[in-house]
Amino acid sequence: MIKRAVVTGVGHYLPDRIVPNSEFEAMIDTTDEWIRSRSGIERRHFAAEGQTTSDLATRAARAALADAGLEPDDIDTIIVATSTPDFTFPAVATIVQAELGMTKGYAFDIQAVCAGFVFALANANGLILSGQAKRVLIIGAETFSRLMDWTDRGTCVLFGDGAGALILEAAEGEGNSSDRGILSTDLNSDGRYRDILYVDGGVSSTQTTGFLRMQGKEVFRHAIEKLAATAHTALDKAGLTPADVDWIVPHQANLRIIKGTALKMGLSMDNVVVTVQDHGNTSAASIPLALSVGKQRGQIKQGQLVVVEAIGGGLAWGSVVLRW
Ligand code: UT7
Repeated sequence: MIKRAVVTGVGHYLPDRIVPNSEFEAMIDTTDEWIRSRSGIERRHFAAEGQTTSDLATRAARAALADAGLEPDDIDTIIVATSTPDFTFPAVATIVQAELGMTKGYAFDIQAVCAGFVFALANANGLILSGQAKRVLIIGAETFSRLMDWTDRGTCVLFGDGAGALILEAAEGEGNSSDRGILSTDLNSDGRYRDILYVDGGVSSTQTTGFLRMQGKEVFRHAIEKLAATAHTALDKAGLTPADVDWIVPHQANLRIIKGTALKMGLSMDNVVVTVQDHGNTSAASIPLALSVGKQRGQIKQGQLVVVEAIGGGLAWGSVVLRW
């Protein structure tokens, strides 16, 4: 018998305000047709004025706890993946901890931009396998609308706000790929590409929050190649192949990247959970949102093999293979 980190709950929260592509037509030189055809995005949610990342995160956390049938005090570790914290410090995770009424355990944030949830999942797995945690609440939560330059049509139409959460619990497995839980992980970064997707402000540089800047075509070029490669690597590590995969749950940045990656892996779009049309790119929140929506839609079922993969600023990218 070996230790495994098994998903026992999932949930999400989306702010009430839904912004269709048509709203941008009045603001900037763009069309619904351009946004749909280039990105697959039809609408996104924006947080209300004053609504913070920790607020979205806490609501998603409550939904995941309810799904798992757990109380906040059953959790010993909270990890929030975010690049849009309420404050420079403390960590969003500690705000969520207090909001949930938890006084035990420990909470911290991970920042790997759009790959943040994959990094958080892999790190939570490590904490569970090493015995440092038993039940981890992992949240991806973002308010990317706060980082938009509303005059930059190449970026402001692409992003949205939201949060998704997942609970990972220590369990026993046989040590083979039939086990439920995380079977393998693969994390990568290459800081040489840090200036193709970044925010032009920060504490120690400008003392401002800054705005998101992206060379979209360059990021696009890296995305398909690196996502397919990391997914293959993670599957290899688990002794599996793309033919074993029930669901790819990719970071939801662009439908063309999602389709290109599936094609490169020899998988049909019938095996891919797609939510980008409704959420836009919610950075670290996109994968847990897609996992939660995928479960609600009846797509993802217990026992199925799921691969999550993401790439974002850094560049940072990676994937996790798990049996749901
Ligand atoms: O989550 C982190 C990872 N991020 C991503 O994965 C994003 C990766 N990149 C992309 O998704 C795509 O590159 C974009 C959706 C950002 C852009 O699509 P593209 O096919 O690469 O378009 P492009 O940037 O090459 O722009 C094509 C044209 C340009 O005009 P010219 O120079 O050909 O005259 C842009 O100025 O489209 C223009 N354009 C727009 N037109 C209407 C750019 N943004 C817009 C817009 N509306 N919103």
